[in-house]
Amino acid sequence: MTTKPAVLVTGGAGFIGSHTCKALFENGYTPVAFDNLTTGHADAVRYGPLVKGDVRDADAVQAALQAHGAQAVLHFAARAYVGESVRMPLAYHDNNVGGMIGLLQGCAAAGVERVVLSSSCATYGVPATLPIREDCPQNPINPYGYTKLVCERMLAEQAAATGLRYAALRYFNAAGADPSGALGERHDPETHLIPLALQAAFGTGPALSVFGTDYPTEDGTCIRDYIHVADLARAHVLALDHLLRGGASLCVNLGTGQGVSVRMIIRAIEAMTGQPLPVVYGPRRAGDPPSLVADPAQAHALLGFRTSQSDITTILRDAAPWFRPVRQAG
Ligand code: UFG
Repeated sequence: MTTKPAVLVTGGAGFIGSHTCKALFENGYTPVAFDNLTTGHADAVRYGPLVKGDVRDADAVQAALQAHGAQAVLHFAARAYVGESVRMPLAYHDNNVGGMIGLLQGCAAAGVERVVLSSSCATYGVPATLPIREDCPQNPINPYGYTKLVCERMLAEQAAATGLRYAALRYFNAAGADPSGALGERHDPETHLIPLALQAAFGTGPALSVFGTDYPTEDGTCIRDYIHVADLARAHVLALDHLLRGGASLCVNLGTGQGVSVRMIIRAIEAMTGQPLPVVYGPRRAGDPPSLVADPAQAHALLGFRTSQSDITTILRDAAPWFRPVRQAG
């Protein structure tokens, strides 16, 4: 394995950040997790040091970069609940936009000019056409998506003004867990479909509420593009390799190109457990677009990235152990 540099992973104790630390470590990098531990878990930091700090604190970012000789940043630290962002917009602007400012100020002070950003398909809002290409207009419909769009713009403006080069990775729906069982998804509160559906299936949570059955989709439920967190983690390593090789800034979707409805998830879980899933059908949840599916061609063209573990059966198989009664999910 060739020696590669240390990199700062903000939000390295969180769901996608911790899985990416593992992938970075396995690819020869030293991931330095930088996390304020408000939602992250210290025990998920297993592949390099943990620095407790807040990305809004530029001095702390600079100090961490310099102390570890980090040559790039992967920026995951953010609030990431769409519904919460509607109720608490200022918290999202403070944390996500303020965090991007602090991070870039810290990077500038430390002379670090390579950044990989955790962006989102929520920046597109309700797309005019599907699948969603990167040149689709970005008109977010909630504060969360808007803060991620501001982060992208801040990177583009800073790149135009300085030597910064960045990769903005627009995730679709992250799901699954590390196949070895070392890391999983532990949100509190949990709001995502697959964890809640698995908890309902294993009796560790209430019946699944299906948010709307009257969408203009084939079976009336929302369609999303679910991507395995291990595939996402691998894409980050490819984006980092690209930037450190001198590659140009880019914005790419990370998804499979396959739409999966809520009812399809329910059927897949029933096939896995052999039991009917307890379900209650309710009204739509505010702010949910009917269908979000990526065109994944750019990530393949620019980074050589294709998903390989993101079929729904594999996602459910890897996520399932975290929601069974024997293991504490938090
Ligand atoms: N859903 C239910 N019942 C639930 C939870 C979700 O029916 O209890 C439905 C939602 O209505 C939606 C789908 O399942 O149609 C997926 O919902 P999630 O909450 O799992 O994910 P979202 O698509 O709302 O949000 C995710 C990420 C966000 C990101 C967004 C982009 O959590 O960070 O994708 O669309 F911004």
